[in-house]
Amino acid sequence: MTHACPPLPGVLVDRLAGARRVAALTGAGVSAESGVPTFRDAQSGLWARYRPEELATAAAFESDPATVWSWYEWRRDLVAAARPNAGHLALARLESLVPEFTLITQNVDGLHARAGSRRVIEFHGNLFTNRCFAGCGEVTDVPRPCPEPPRCRGCGGWLRPGVVWFGEPIPQPALLAAQAAALECEVFLAVGTSAQVYPAAGLASLAQRAGALVVEINPAPTGLDGAAAVTLPGASGVVLPALVEAVRVARGTRQ
Ligand code: OAD
Repeated sequence: MTHACPPLPGVLVDRLAGARRVAALTGAGVSAESGVPTFRDAQSGLWARYRPEELATAAAFESDPATVWSWYEWRRDLVAAARPNAGHLALARLESLVPEFTLITQNVDGLHARAGSRRVIEFHGNLFTNRCFAGCGEVTDVPRPCPEPPRCRGCGGWLRPGVVWFGEPIPQPALLAAQAAALECEVFLAVGTSAQVYPAAGLASLAQRAGALVVEINPAPTGLDGAAAVTLPGASGVVLPALVEAVRVARGTRQ
């Protein structure tokens, strides 16, 4: 992990400082500095220790609700004890500097909202919500901690975590709002994502084809090589505060 901030290209700071619409897509890397494990990092990623098909699919939940539920309870405990880091805080600050800023996150940890971001599209749902597995539509509050999978008040079936599992579609409102933000933005930031899971991974190319400057912030190379015009190789908790401060100063000098 690099702790130094790479040079910030002047053209990027200028584009961000002059932009009316900016979108950002974040992934697990943004929460890594809060102690929340990523998915695909070789040593520390969740998918190095667990098999997605045994824990993050509807079929897995159907065959063993208790195991899947307890894995999500473990992740809820971990995230509840974590705090937003400098990267989350910088993105919340950027929202206050840009007239129309949309934050699309693949993260289900809620740390962007806890950092103060307001316009957040939770593309893959949220760990702390639940819904009926059978889809009866009933909303049931679940007090925590909740060690056993709870029952739905409406139909008596299982309640499941309110996240998107492998093989499931992104809820239409989140998908449409994210695509609109990508199509309309002048600058698109892709931060801390390996860009391997679609449709989220396709948003950067959508933005690029629509004319946005696509900027990647990630200490490691990803599949966004074709879409990103600017790559800032560094940790989001280091790069984002420096970038947002440069934008704040540049915006101030424009007024
Ligand atoms: P991944 O685990 O695939 O990728 C994490 C990325 O974060 C990698 O590219 C790392 O290089 C980068 N990274 C690590 N530390 C960082 C730091 N301090 N600052 C910036 N970047 C850092 O996570 P996602 O791309 O978010 O889906 O994964 C996408 C989806 O796959 C997740 O939402 C989840 C998972 O399966 C579902 O659960 C549906």
